[in-house]
Amino acid sequence: MDRFIDDLMDRMTLEQKIGQLNLHSVSGSLTGMKLSDDDANLQAVREGKMGALYGSGNVHYLKLMQEEALKSGAGIPLMFGQDVIHGYQTIFPVPLALSTSWNMDLIERTASIAAKEASASGINWVYSPMVDICRDARWGRIVEGAGEDPFLGGEVAKAYVRGYQGPDNSLDNHHVMACVKHYALYGGAEAGRDYNSVFLSRQEALNGYMRPYQQAAYAGAGCYMSSFNEFEGIPASMNHYLLTELLRDRWGFDGFIVSDYTSVSEQIAHGIGDLQEVSARSLQAGLDMDMNADGFVGTLEKSLKEGRIKEADIDRACRRILEAKYKLGLFEDPYKYLDPSRESEIYTAENRAVARKVARECQVLLKNDGVLPLSKNARVAVVGPLAQNAQALAGSWSTGSHSGECVTLYDGIAEVVRSTYAEGSWLFLDKDLEEAVRYGMARSFMPGFVGAPLHTVPQERLIAEAVAKAREADVVVACVGETESMNGEAASRTDISLPDAQRELLKALKATGKPVVMVLVTGRPLILVEEDASMNAILNVWSPGSEGGHVVADVLFGDVNPSAKLTTSFPRSVGQLPLYYNHKNTGRPQSDYAPFKKFVSAYLDEINGPLYPFGYGLSYTTYSYSAPVLSAAEMPLNGSVTASVTVTNTGTRDGYEVVQLYIHDIYATSTRPVKELKGFRKVFIPAGESVTVDFPLTADDLSYYNHELQWVCEPGDFEIMTGPNSRDTQSVQLTVR
Ligand code: BGC
Repeated sequence: MDRFIDDLMDRMTLEQKIGQLNLHSVSGSLTGMKLSDDDANLQAVREGKMGALYGSGNVHYLKLMQEEALKSGAGIPLMFGQDVIHGYQTIFPVPLALSTSWNMDLIERTASIAAKEASASGINWVYSPMVDICRDARWGRIVEGAGEDPFLGGEVAKAYVRGYQGPDNSLDNHHVMACVKHYALYGGAEAGRDYNSVFLSRQEALNGYMRPYQQAAYAGAGCYMSSFNEFEGIPASMNHYLLTELLRDRWGFDGFIVSDYTSVSEQIAHGIGDLQEVSARSLQAGLDMDMNADGFVGTLEKSLKEGRIKEADIDRACRRILEAKYKLGLFEDPYKYLDPSRESEIYTAENRAVARKVARECQVLLKNDGVLPLSKNARVAVVGPLAQNAQALAGSWSTGSHSGECVTLYDGIAEVVRSTYAEGSWLFLDKDLEEAVRYGMARSFMPGFVGAPLHTVPQERLIAEAVAKAREADVVVACVGETESMNGEAASRTDISLPDAQRELLKALKATGKPVVMVLVTGRPLILVEEDASMNAILNVWSPGSEGGHVVADVLFGDVNPSAKLTTSFPRSVGQLPLYYNHKNTGRPQSDYAPFKKFVSAYLDEINGPLYPFGYGLSYTTYSYSAPVLSAAEMPLNGSVTASVTVTNTGTRDGYEVVQLYIHDIYATSTRPVKELKGFRKVFIPAGESVTVDFPLTADDLSYYNHELQWVCEPGDFEIMTGPNSRDTQSVQLTVR
């Protein structure tokens, strides 16, 4: 590879080298304020001023563009990227939902199917996995990641990379290059407002947020995307510490880094300098490719002439991009991924069957007073604004053309039992807010856009119809929550309770006296205090993907025993945010569930703890946990111990249980969280049987980044805790010598 690229670069002009650093989207693909133009893109490709293109899965179009690239001066093939986030045409549950399966093999499988389908469409590079840790559910993009825990996030990140890039990063023509995003710390946006500043110390960043990015690098991810936010006062796309010192020098990453959508030019608004200045600084900090900002292609030559950058800076970035193309095999065969005959591999019945299997493991049962599972002889009223909404089940970032075909909740249920349907309510009482949710995107980019009128049927009438249906039924399934545009990018919310209009519906349903099962569609934790008190059952189905309605019916009628567990805390009040289980103790600690007391770290009007904790999720069976037992009470620094816990299925149904292990470093030279996840196992336990789960532990599991940012295990006492979630743990003490 080195010889090939040396030889190639010897023949390239400066302009051609800079051209490789440029990336544009196709005109239909839009996630920022800059619109692309397909004619201008074609011209740029012909002139060798484009290294990659993203946003199209039209294999015929991409083939034409590849032909043009090969005919241009240096004849270098293009890379074709796309936001393939949770499946391509076959849609899997949204990433936050996938993480609640705690099943890494399944997550890997979703990524490998996504890779197969995307590569059959000409795509060779996907903008995934998104591995940003988030502790604040106001941030809409919490839906795209794996939740609040860095250890779990690291495991999930590796699973995605394996799935996309193939075993041993083979990158054969059924696998694609992964792009890990958003590097770094984007999920730490202050107050959960998208694109907002991040204020974290390096130590807290390393301990609480960085592990998923690091693990993805260790797994061999080929590409990273720099994030929109600043860190330590320097925007990420020009942050030398992040892009070079940490990612490359410390973690050994040797791929290329692409900016996020116009994040290079956005550094002007960050207040750093003009386009030339921010482009030069980004390149020098270690950024290799500029997405849509035209900063590199527009100013680097000038900066070189003026001595603000060196040719070696350009060569370095260009080389990394050529290396990626080499690793993808594009120099050997530029048409490797451009095979129209592979169309039959997309959206197959087989892939949808996997989507159903996967989504079954992502259903979190939050409450059940015994009403679930439902009898298949019951008459069911399926009501609510999300009961017939396919797009909401596809969820945020469903860019494929089949997202409107997701099996709706009503259709899935109606296949199993006699059922009736009513819309039940508006999304929000506030029409302006509902318009912003439904038409915000169109209105932002199409001046004068007028959507279909909303609230044409009065809310009272919708509720009355639903109540009438409820009265004729044995049980009500109320389908409420968030549509796909209420979470995701640029969809932060200050009020994350269930929308008012839908709460009105639930109250009216409750008043009928019929049992009400709430099916929650959402991409983020919501505040469900009222619903937890009033509903007979709450099943959180997230945005479950292509087979959504079938999967929810599988669970509601007991063909599947739910096993998913939360990977984010569900707050009791928005005032608690940011809220996360692995918080510090403070000098005046208050336990999460204790009532108010003066002079401790607490609120007057709310307890500290969540409604549903990290790791929580119910099943149709019950489990009892033994206390953990250690193979030895002491461990030498270079040794290991095993923590064992026996879990018994005390109910009458077989089930899968996610057994969790947490640690607490009692005294350390820096303060440590009250609990940190360090192991988990998902095990099948037949009714009435017990399974013993062993967790091997070494110093590495007990280590953290100390004040000097060294990864250390400090001898002393540790609590080792096991249990079904982060709240209900039992512990044993381990001494490290
Ligand atoms: C998002 C990225 C995405 C990119 C390209 C940006 O606005 O932050 O996640 O990959 O657009 O669509």
